Amino acid sequence: MAKKRSKIEIHGLEARYYDLLLAVATLGRYGRMMERAIRHMNIQPDEWIADFGCGPGTNASRMARYLGCSGKVVGFDIGKEMLDQARKKQEHDPHLQFEYQPIDEPLPAKWHRRFDRVLISFVLHGFEQPTRLKILQNAWMAIRNGGTLSIVDWNEFNLANQPLIFRWMFTHIECELASEFISYNWKQLLREMGWQNCTERTFFGGTVRLLQAQKTASR
Ligand SMILES: C[S@@+](CC[C@H](N)C(=O)[O-])C[C@H]1O[C@@H](n2cnc3c(N)ncnc32)[C@H](O)[C@@H]1O
Repeated sequence: MAKKRSKIEIHGLEARYYDLLLAVATLGRYGRMMERAIRHMNIQPDEWIADFGCGPGTNASRMARYLGCSGKVVGFDIGKEMLDQARKKQEHDPHLQFEYQPIDEPLPAKWHRRFDRVLISFVLHGFEQPTRLKILQNAWMAIRNGGTLSIVDWNEFNLANQPLIFRWMFTHIECELASEFISYNWKQLLREMGWQNCTERTFFGGTVRLLQAQKTASR
């Protein structure tokens, strides 16, 4: 059977135990890295944040800790098992809302310019390049002027220069599309799309990056 290029749609047991599997596979480091990345986002108490491909809503919950009464995180996903878990978190936290919404299709007008920030965490690499650009365009539509795009994903790096164990894990566990994702100059692509003031922060020895950019008034 041909190997699937993308592993970004997650179903069944893998989806139901997503957080646990990730914690075991990374020895708990993924959660700690996301906590640090979210701290660096400098979330303001009144922000409205969209979480594109929110999974079980764990990062949405992490971001919600920084919000006051008027702040909100709206998570978008298409995975039933993921949304079921996320909606359980919503029952206990009024800052959270989760919606079935494909992020690679145009968002309903009610979400246009509604958010101060869009987070896309470990989602973008799993799509073909034209779809990644469509998702970034949807993020542009969702963010108000002056708002921030926060991407947490693989950084650009040369796989050949990485330790053997990392190379093995990256090529066997990650999807084919991730190997292609790391070859793009994302800061330049974002600038070409009109995003400005790009900043970055790296984690895991430079292999993972929080890349942020702003939507300014004109494009
Ligand atoms: C690797 S998980 C990342 C989850 C979470 N953002 C994180 O950082 O842990 C990818 C998520 O993207 C979702 N996804 C895949 N294709 C999607 C699409 N077209 N629209 C919305 N979500 C999608 C999957 O259901 C899954 O929850």
